[in-house]
Amino acid sequence: MSRLVIEGGRPLKGEVEISGAKNSALAIIVAAALATEGKSILENVPRGSDITTICEILKELGAEAYFDDEHKLHIDGRGLNQSRASYDLVRRMRASFYAAGLLLARLGKAEVPLPGGCAIGSRPVDFHIKGFAQMGADVVIEHGFMKAEADRLRGTQFYVNRASVGTTINLMIAASLAEGTTILENAAKEPEVVDLAIFLNGMGAKVRGAGTEVIRIEGVESLRGIEYSIIPDRIEAGTFMLAAAITGGEVRLKGVVAEHIRVPIVKFEEAGLEIVRDNNELLVKAPPRLRATDVETMPYPGFPTDLQQPFVAALSTADGTSVVRDTIFDRFRYVDELRRMGADIKTERNTAIIRGVRQLTGAPVEITDLRAGAALAIAALAAEGQTDLYGVEILDRGYEFFEDKLRSLGANIRREKID
Ligand code: UD1
Repeated sequence: MSRLVIEGGRPLKGEVEISGAKNSALAIIVAAALATEGKSILENVPRGSDITTICEILKELGAEAYFDDEHKLHIDGRGLNQSRASYDLVRRMRASFYAAGLLLARLGKAEVPLPGGCAIGSRPVDFHIKGFAQMGADVVIEHGFMKAEADRLRGTQFYVNRASVGTTINLMIAASLAEGTTILENAAKEPEVVDLAIFLNGMGAKVRGAGTEVIRIEGVESLRGIEYSIIPDRIEAGTFMLAAAITGGEVRLKGVVAEHIRVPIVKFEEAGLEIVRDNNELLVKAPPRLRATDVETMPYPGFPTDLQQPFVAALSTADGTSVVRDTIFDRFRYVDELRRMGADIKTERNTAIIRGVRQLTGAPVEITDLRAGAALAIAALAAEGQTDLYGVEILDRGYEFFEDKLRSLGANIRREKID
């Protein structure tokens, strides 16, 4: 166990390289195991415990997954022969449920634990299950597991409720080897979905329309492994922009796809950030104090729910009152911790009303979920005095070299072991 200790008050300055997108990597790693010919070699996979977990799951199912000396991830799905994933691994992360789509497509049988609730509210997988059933799988829920069987899944026309990202990904994985064509309506349009489609097509799949509301997947007989590089992490990019913002800093982000954060950029500019685009770099200059602004999270291309918490943290010291509504998840528990640092935030159902204060003060705080971790770190960077962040293993799930990157930008941050 460890904690992060941050002494706030230093403006961040310098350059930071953005890592590969965790959420894209999770989907692509699972999809790579669909191949029965050759293996895939994935570049730009971020380090983090979620990635380790998904690799452990694949290994448990009989696939090979390992990093080479250049940190390229090799996935060989040819040995896949186990249709049951263990609760111990799946419970750590909801994206583990992608194993269900993989197993149904490859082995015609999947026994995967239902991920339980999590710190950002109830997160069921009922849409995924409905999709598998509509593709012809016999599905039962027993002893906390989804057990599904189908000799070969069949193409279908399926409406994706709430444009769910996970459902879209799981059904794309399942449909790639199905018989006939699957049409996903109201599909998620997130860049991670597009990245997965490009990867699948490279493997020999026939996926059309990713990035729009309708995705067509014509099932093929088999797929082959390829080399592929994961897109940059738009959430990490947004997080570093906000870290620069709250500290009044000036940071150059390298390796970013600005198009993927078009709406966050508009919102951050509204709050007073100056943002200069230069190919795949963004130069972010913060004013001495941000301006209040209102925002509502939406499916892509709207403002991402994964930046809601870091944005609220940054707005907690802005001039004026901001209103932030999260329409995707119920993820405001971390606000209690921000209040302990002196923030003036009221929450009502899915809305936070943030009255900007002049100064936050450091305090011991507890990370409740991944993005809350980023939010509390951002607050700590601007707070007067020391903040001890507990529950740092949650942050380690999804931010690569987080404290090293912050330190290279001038933050006073260190990790301490605790008994
Ligand atoms: C993914 C991302 C997460 C991001 C979220 C929304 C990964 C690994 N995670 O999560 O970082 O915050 O998209 O952009 O990529 N829902 C159901 N039943 C289902 C599935 C979803 O009710 O079967 C609901 C959810 O509770 C939520 C909404 O649909 O309210 C959207 O969730 P979804 O897009 O599926 O999010 P995830 O894929 O879990």
